[in-house]
Amino acid sequence: MSEPIVLGVESSCDETSVGIVEGLKLLANETASSVDLHARFGGVVPEVASRAHLEAIGPTLRRALDAADVTPGQIDAIAVTAGPGLMGALAVGVAAAKALALAWDKPLYGLNHLVAHVGVDMLDHGPLPQPCLALLVSGGHSSLLLVRDITGDIEQLGSTIDDAAGEAYDKVARLLGLGYPGGPVVDSAAQRGDPRAIAFPRGLTARHDMEKHRFDFSFSGLKTAVARWIEIRERDGLEVPVDDVAASFQEAVADVLTAKTVDAAREYGVSDVILGGGVAANSRLRALLEQRCAETGLSLRRPRPGLCTDNGAMIAVLGSAVVAARKPASAMTFSPDSGLPVTQVVV
Ligand code: KG4
Ligand code: ZN
Repeated sequence: MSEPIVLGVESSCDETSVGIVEGLKLLANETASSVDLHARFGGVVPEVASRAHLEAIGPTLRRALDAADVTPGQIDAIAVTAGPGLMGALAVGVAAAKALALAWDKPLYGLNHLVAHVGVDMLDHGPLPQPCLALLVSGGHSSLLLVRDITGDIEQLGSTIDDAAGEAYDKVARLLGLGYPGGPVVDSAAQRGDPRAIAFPRGLTARHDMEKHRFDFSFSGLKTAVARWIEIRERDGLEVPVDDVAASFQEAVADVLTAKTVDAAREYGVSDVILGGGVAANSRLRALLEQRCAETGLSLRRPRPGLCTDNGAMIAVLGSAVVAARKPASAMTFSPDSGLPVTQVVV
């Protein structure tokens, strides 16, 4: 039997994206980003994002079908991000996906965006080793997940108690005057700086925190420490060494994320680690996680940087795995859920 062809729609934040896969093979991944419209506000403006999705969804869909060279008749299922994300943004993708499923008479799967960030690595490296330990780091979430089955059995071992890793990047970029989105600009400034220049705090790693928050993260104290450090320099009339601040901040983030990931993998006796989410594109996080996994005998999988940030292909490939696992399709009446928990893979 041939592999299912699945079309995936993503619209949870500021990217309108449609991906098409055949089994675990990528056929197309077309994205229209509204990031430039938000840049001058220093963050995503939900109303602007929704409007941009409405304008982009039709053309993006047509580009994906052309790129994949498939006709609607050849598609076996439609998958769409059901949550979490911005409500108005999600609603556009879900409405479009429902319309396609009805018009083309295909089953519809409302999927979890966060789980798709982990599952996207199947496009690069094949079926997931299961169980595996996933470090999920995006603009809105930072979690350690024990993935027993990517299509339906995920346990959250810990998550951020305040800011997400990507959020911390975006805020520190603003403090340093580097623009939006913060991740890529801080990443490149950090490559010119000294990661040992400033000893920034490692959140929730002190002995007393480890009892209650061993697998949780906190980045808000780090962000405040960076703000304080810059404030004192400026008060004293000294120049702010942007590259060194970026590198030292990035080192603190990567250090905590990787140390807790390795600790969780060992605690749960899991030998495979997988990285996912927009921050998974970060050069230092990728390198340090690779180094620490190698040192402790863990095997690591990381999707290529281009698949780490939001895209339709990640929704399509998770949909393909869900179809292959013969999970029931979603009811056509489902609504997007801006707070969908990571443990719910299909709505
Ligand atoms: O997963 P994602 O595309 O969207 C959400 O689901 O939130 O993640 C976006 C986040 C942003 O905060 C962005 O600054 C961050 O990922 N990011 C990075 C890098 N590229 C994107 N953070 C650090 N280093 C990068 N190279
Ligand atoms: Zn995302």
